[in-house]
Amino acid sequence: MASTQSPTVNRQWVLTKRPAGDDFESCLEWREAPVPTPGEGQILVRTIYLSMDPSNAIWMRQASYIPPAPLNEPMLGLVLGEVMESHHPRFKAGDIVSGLGGWADYAVTDGKGWGKVPADGRMPLLAFTSVLGMTGMTAYFGLYDIGRPQAGETVVVSAAAGAVGSMVGQFAKLRGCRVVGIAGGAEKTKWLVDEMGFDAAVDYKTGGPKELRQALKAACPNGIDVYFENVGGWITEVVYSLLNLRARIPLCGLISQYNAAEPQPGPRNMDQLLVKRCRMEGFIVLDYTDRMGEMAKEIGPWLAEGKLKWKVDVDEGLDGAVKSLRKLFSGGNVGKLVVRVGAEPAR
Ligand SMILES: NC(=O)c1ccc[n+]([C@@H]2O[C@H](COP(=O)([O-])OP(=O)(O)OC[C@H]3O[C@@H](n4cnc5c(N)ncnc54)[C@H](OP(=O)(O)O)[C@@H]3O)[C@@H](O)[C@H]2O)c1
Repeated sequence: MASTQSPTVNRQWVLTKRPAGDDFESCLEWREAPVPTPGEGQILVRTIYLSMDPSNAIWMRQASYIPPAPLNEPMLGLVLGEVMESHHPRFKAGDIVSGLGGWADYAVTDGKGWGKVPADGRMPLLAFTSVLGMTGMTAYFGLYDIGRPQAGETVVVSAAAGAVGSMVGQFAKLRGCRVVGIAGGAEKTKWLVDEMGFDAAVDYKTGGPKELRQALKAACPNGIDVYFENVGGWITEVVYSLLNLRARIPLCGLISQYNAAEPQPGPRNMDQLLVKRCRMEGFIVLDYTDRMGEMAKEIGPWLAEGKLKWKVDVDEGLDGAVKSLRKLFSGGNVGKLVVRVGAEPAR
């Protein structure tokens, strides 16, 4: 059953202009509008959790693997929500669904790209915003399909204490690899080793390239076979200097560049990819949605046996969403960052 509250107001963050850098505050306006009415073939979704993703900054600004977020509409965001009203054959009121919605209490959609979440109570709903959602799939397919780690190899991941990074490290451990994370701050590096089971983690904020190289070299005595790229910039150059022959680089993200006013130059030591015969391949998680079942089959038992951990960092309230987004760029989150917009339905 859908929740009984009858909606009247749709609070929302409207994108009014495109950011030039990280000036999100001046580009998003808080507004209240009437709750939209779904027409034939549409559903009304009430947002429960709004996913905070580094790519939100890209969507605000320009076309990428999706068209740019439209101006004067609620900002685009991945939503986990409850169907309140359905005129669509595939959905009914009370279904828990996820898809590309808006930074708003409610969204009307034709259901394209939206899927039902198996909210049968066996897993908390938050799992579907992280390990059993886009985050888990990004880490799983990026690492296994593109990184192809072999037992005994060394896997390094940047933004390691974030949503994707913390999963990548665990997936690599489960394939018998040595796993080293790069993250900002002592608390995060300790958490990676103590809680997430990484073999080592280095703090890139305690110095510059020279210090990071020293620490990473010590943590990777046999060099680096797989580098799961999340950040770009000078960290990438340091990692490239330690790559092994035939290393693989799943190019997942380049967060250090997303808010740059101008396109940034690539790594200055790209010759390392040449001389070490490395393979770098970009990927977008949306290409893997059809293979969700494959992932669920393998990681289900790991979750049940407690071999795979996941952490969601929940910020309260849609009104704070812009501040929440900023946390991704300052390193204020540990694990998957979401905003709680509305209550989970009583079950
Ligand atoms: N290809 C795909 O389909 C796909 C899908 C999802 C995500 N991604 C990408 O994967 C990466 C991680 O995304 P996520 O959702 O898991 O976010 P996240 O890692 O939970 O959060 C971002 C983290 O990046 C680190 N960071 C921010 N600015 C940095 C900088 N200038 N240099 C180094 N580290 C920086 C921060 O951690 P520290 O405290 O360690 O700095 C921050 O916590 C992003 O690049 C994202 O765009 C790609």
